[in-house]
Amino acid sequence: MSRIITVANLKGGVGKTTVAVNIACCLAGKHDVVVVDADAQGSATAWSKRGELPAKVLAMPLDAERQAEAWARKVAELEADYIVIDGPPHLTAAFGTAVGLADLVVVPVGASVLDLEATRPALELVAQAREARKGKGPKVLLVPSKADTRTLAGREIDAALASLDEPVGPALHLRVGYADAVAAGGWAGSYEPGGAAHAEVEKLTKLIKELVR
Ligand SMILES: Nc1ncnc2c1ncn2[C@@H]1O[C@H](COP(=O)(O)OP(=O)(O)O)[C@@H](O)[C@H]1O
Ligand SMILES: [Mg+2]
Repeated sequence: MSRIITVANLKGGVGKTTVAVNIACCLAGKHDVVVVDADAQGSATAWSKRGELPAKVLAMPLDAERQAEAWARKVAELEADYIVIDGPPHLTAAFGTAVGLADLVVVPVGASVLDLEATRPALELVAQAREARKGKGPKVLLVPSKADTRTLAGREIDAALASLDEPVGPALHLRVGYADAVAAGGWAGSYEPGGAAHAEVEKLTKLIKELVR
């Protein structure tokens, strides 16, 4: 059985695609991994076309409620050790479907009060999925994204995230390497192997593997 990891937050630009593709590529070193690009904007798909990523990216936009069931069936039929869903950015039933399928929902959260507020609706959908599954998941991992230790908000993010009452994973800090890797058609581990971005992606991926084991 594939382990399904959905990267989701309803806020745009918070780092969903960056987190999804980097953890997928990190997992792909040892496992068979598919990224499901559920965002109609197709950022992960475009990224994969820029170069050679170790994880396969499938464009499977999930933008309408009526196709959610067929979409979920297609995802369930995929053969891989890990399926990483780059979640849709809108609050629709389709979003609930992507969360409902997951063993783990990874929620990147930016370092501002507004980002925290924008995260609550996603967590409410998780709560609904948990109810529907009678408490059998999904797990949640909050991941500080674009964390900037130079700002007050960046330094206080950990305390602020604790107020959301879900486990908090290691941060992906604000680093030019993440964007430059995309431009080069790679991911943190191929762009600068052993670099700071690669190290934090590895740390996050290790924890994710433990959570879905
Ligand atoms: N940790 C980070 N450090 C620096 N830039 C980042 C980081 N995470 C994301 N970015 C950049 O921010 C922009 C939005 O990120 P993206 O992953 O596409 O967000 P989303 O998928 O949530 O819309 C992209 O240009 C991306 O390269
Ligand atoms: Mg995206």
